[in-house]
Amino acid sequence: MADFTCPVCKCPLADEGKLYRCKNNHCFDKSKYGYVNLLRSNSSSEKRHGDDRLMVRARRDFLSKGYYSFLLDELCEVIEKYAPENPFMIDAGCGECYYSQGILGRFPGMTAAGADISKSALEFAGKRGVKFPLCVASVFDMPFGDECADVILNCFAPDSPEEYSRILKPGGILIKVVPLENHLFSLKQAIYESPYPNEKPRESLEGFKTAEFRRIEREIKIDGGEDIMNLFRMTPYYYKTGREDQAKAERLETLVTSAAFGIIIFKKGDENA
Ligand SMILES: C[S@@+](CC[C@H](N)C(=O)[O-])C[C@H]1O[C@@H](n2cnc3c(N)ncnc32)[C@H](O)[C@@H]1O
Ligand SMILES: [Zn+2]
Repeated sequence: MADFTCPVCKCPLADEGKLYRCKNNHCFDKSKYGYVNLLRSNSSSEKRHGDDRLMVRARRDFLSKGYYSFLLDELCEVIEKYAPENPFMIDAGCGECYYSQGILGRFPGMTAAGADISKSALEFAGKRGVKFPLCVASVFDMPFGDECADVILNCFAPDSPEEYSRILKPGGILIKVVPLENHLFSLKQAIYESPYPNEKPRESLEGFKTAEFRRIEREIKIDGGEDIMNLFRMTPYYYKTGREDQAKAERLETLVTSAAFGIIIFKKGDENA
């Protein structure tokens, strides 16, 4: 298990129960939900601080119904195949930790930590009983020491190849999950006049070798307007859609759509190395 590092002086932070402290006496209180805020106040690169409560609540409610449990199962297979014994995993852009908490539940020797820029997401993670350390931080400035992680999990969250490479051990793996071209296409068809597919995901990343690109796809049937609206609210489409189109989604009672994910397994090191 690796320590968080101090965002001021970069020294390791010791967990003193209610707060974290570095040897230079910089202190960071834990919130009542258990997470610590290590986001530097001058992180001006972030325009908005991650997902808001509406989005986080919608995702928590949708994921807890098990619609994407097949993705969790596949991620566990990937860990089984690629991770070393008793790995330390960092969930970068962890949200409410649905996937990392699920993975940890299946690998007893594994340890983890999570980072997300959204306080609301970490609050919901705490409420779901996540016991591993969580911090508010940007993936572009991660409060972890060099070469501390065996695995980085990065599900539907921003890329930060330099930081991921810095904090991964030599030979460590980055597991990146992205939506595929026809992910939720029927939902888009129900809402938009001329829906377009998602962009094809990038299969390469600077400083990494691509070990495998898995495509997994399921047809999911969603009964009930509440679950459909939760799915819609956890996508960026909801926030870019006008009231009239949002109302089209509200009228849906059943939705059959494809859930299509790419899991890209990157190994630290250049493609040509
Ligand atoms: C689509 S959600 C995915 C959450 C979680 N990984 C999951 O799959 O359930 C994207 C997450 O990335 C977080 N995020 C966005 N920009 C970020 C940044 N610069 N640093 C850290 N987290 C960020 C958001 O707050 C949000 O929780
Ligand atoms: Zn310090």
